[in-house]
Amino acid sequence: MRGVDGVRGCGIKGLGVSIPPVRLTNYDLEKMVETSDEWIVERTGIKERRLVTPEMATSDLAAEASSMALEDAGVAPEDVDLVIVASASPDMLFPATACLVQAKIGAARAACFDMEVGCTGFVYALAVGSQFVKTGLYDNVLVVGAETLSRITNWKDRNTCVLFGDGAGAALLGPVEDGRGIIGAHLGADGSAADLLRLPAGGSRLPASHETVDAGLHYVHMDGKAVFKFAVKTMNSAVQAVLNQCGKTPQDVDLLIPHQANLRIIDSACQYLGIPRDKVVVNIDRYGNTSSASVPIALWEAVKDGRVNRGDFVVLVAFGAGLSWGSIAISW
Ligand code: ACO
Repeated sequence: MRGVDGVRGCGIKGLGVSIPPVRLTNYDLEKMVETSDEWIVERTGIKERRLVTPEMATSDLAAEASSMALEDAGVAPEDVDLVIVASASPDMLFPATACLVQAKIGAARAACFDMEVGCTGFVYALAVGSQFVKTGLYDNVLVVGAETLSRITNWKDRNTCVLFGDGAGAALLGPVEDGRGIIGAHLGADGSAADLLRLPAGGSRLPASHETVDAGLHYVHMDGKAVFKFAVKTMNSAVQAVLNQCGKTPQDVDLLIPHQANLRIIDSACQYLGIPRDKVVVNIDRYGNTSSASVPIALWEAVKDGRVNRGDFVVLVAFGAGLSWGSIAISW
């Protein structure tokens, strides 16, 4: 499995998801804030989203998706070497949600850490996790994107509450023959624009207080228009960058799996790139924006539906808080 340069291939050996039980439709939201199904569908493409029940947290979704990915890969929990959880809505500031997942799934031998890169988290975590496999340090790396955004959403703010949903997706990474699996990765960030998308309070800058809670500073704050423009630009440039890395063109893409934030963002980026819609996975209508969980859930659905076949050239792309962006190229 080692190539001439001594680096071995790393691919996705198994996938799993956790789709929470509560279905919240646009019609339900019409009763909560001044909005309409028509506005939400036209401006975002979202029809409904899934939410957790009160007793559930991010690690519960992450653990369910992880166990499913391990079963899909035929790998026992005790053989997992590393768990990486990407989340913008972890169970707590610390310990890492990855540690909680490790205990829940029984991966007692695994090292654990979290990655906080907003909606780009899963793509970053795939790029990072794959390095451990490529160098030969680890054989089984579990990468999870998991969110309970409903916990950090202001349900009185129509500008944001119509957008988000909860969920999780997981991928088990392992060695594959050289030249297959994850063959390209492009990551980036622009911290000078961090204020455009953030959760202002609860950290060291603005610790939790009665005032911060009263002011709603423990919820997602976003400049939607500015993030929209950034998203269209970076989805395009991030896909181009990973294609260049692999010596490919948009015409070579068999399937594009974009972060599901807004259907108009996906459509604009695909138009720029010249990738037809039938080569793009879209499920935002059913789940909304599940942040770091959106790409693995969409990937799992595509595989389940038989849309990904051996040898296909698959590109994953995401953007999010940071601001951050990332893309991954896979020879399936
Ligand atoms: N229902 C009805 N009207 C609404 C709603 C709503 N839910 N939300 C906003 N409006 C109103 C606005 O108040 C505004 O009214 P006004 O003109 O009287 O002020 C009008 O609709 C138009 O608002 P815009 O902000 O121009 O709407 P836009 O077409 O830009 O869509 C949206 C807003 C959907 C938020 C879009 O900007 C977007 O998707 N941005 C990117 C969001 C994103 O991708 N976030 C990143 C990830 S989040 C994360 O990392 C956790």
